Amino acid sequence: MGFTVTGVKAVEILDSRSRPTLAVTVTLGDGTVARAGVPSGASTGSQEAVELRDGDPKRFGGSGVLGAVGNVNGEIAEALRGRTFTDLDELDHTLIDLDGTDNKSRLGANAVVGVSMAAARGLAIAAGLPLWQTLNPTDVTPRLPVPHFNVVNGGVHAPNDLDFQEFMVAPLGAPTMAEAVRAGAEVYAALRSLLMGKGLATGLGDEGGFAPQIGQPEEVLGLLVQAIESAGYRPGRDGVAIALDPAASEFYRDGAYQVAGETLSSDDMITRYEELVAAFPVWSLEDGLAEGDWDGNVRLTERLADRIQLVGDDNLVTNPAIIAKAIALGADTAALIKVNQIGTVTETLEAMAVCRAAGWAQMVSHRSGETEDTFIADLAVGSGCGQLKSGAPARGERVAKYNRLVEIETAESLPFGLAG
Ligand code: PGA
Ligand code: ZN
Repeated sequence: MGFTVTGVKAVEILDSRSRPTLAVTVTLGDGTVARAGVPSGASTGSQEAVELRDGDPKRFGGSGVLGAVGNVNGEIAEALRGRTFTDLDELDHTLIDLDGTDNKSRLGANAVVGVSMAAARGLAIAAGLPLWQTLNPTDVTPRLPVPHFNVVNGGVHAPNDLDFQEFMVAPLGAPTMAEAVRAGAEVYAALRSLLMGKGLATGLGDEGGFAPQIGQPEEVLGLLVQAIESAGYRPGRDGVAIALDPAASEFYRDGAYQVAGETLSSDDMITRYEELVAAFPVWSLEDGLAEGDWDGNVRLTERLADRIQLVGDDNLVTNPAIIAKAIALGADTAALIKVNQIGTVTETLEAMAVCRAAGWAQMVSHRSGETEDTFIADLAVGSGCGQLKSGAPARGERVAKYNRLVEIETAESLPFGLAG
């Protein structure tokens, strides 16, 4: 049993933002060849596993990844080549030990995660199984996740005045994956018409959502409700609901939130969210407060958890130990899951298991810098978590994930929708 690694190779490729990243190919003893593309974030948590960048100003303004590529083709390939592993867990722990740091900063989390993802895919190919099936824990029912389409972009993902980073539409009431994708595309088209009618720009932000010159989140939410209705859907949980990721760490300065022209305390922010939730069909709020504002996050959870889901991203960074801390504190009710935040597939699955054990929800996520790799679609299905965000229903690197989910639905009869 087990599998033998016969080759590991990385090349420097471009991500969707025209920045360098890695494509990693792993070859197994049975001739299997598997590839993975490494994503990259812009509004990152401070405790994330560390991406290795060259810092050579003469190449890509310092963002080249030839060092990380060299680590894959050198040290990592030497450590893995010719070795037989029992399972992915053993391979991932070999990578973790080889790196030797807490945050994968020596070899680079971008190097390590590429090898881990390619190896995971290789195991599925070698077993003749779809990837999601090999990522499915034995005690979990696989399911197709509700897609969260990011249709308006702000924050560090767009050059407009909008401080909130992501405004998503989530077809919670859709009967199938295919119908959910259709709803996302139809709402997106309706929103484009609305923006054009108001003379607002329909250019796109990093995740494929529109980036109109609007400052107030309430104005965007009003447009979203209008777009949902004009596309023929009911705004709310039985139709198309709204999810927000303000990514508040990005506008938290000197102990206050500098947002939409105001300076607000944590409690002012919480009140603002209460008003938003009362006025609009918001069902989920991610990073409503900054990553270091643990007290604020506990109060936010106390005040809003009976009405909406509270997702931690920058504060939790897919780290099983930090998620366990947040669970103990009562901060958040769900975790965003990004494989490259922690750096291996095995640790990502651990983070999701910690959430499940506490009754926490999970939302699998892309990064703002993406490749055409669809790994996260399979991760969402196999983990049975019921939620995924992969940007707008537009741009190849975003729709690749949604299209993969429709393909999985066509091939297998699996339940669709939120877990539990
Ligand atoms: P990032 O943002 O990929 O740019 O870090 C995504 C998010 O905040 O969820
Ligand atoms: Zn986020």
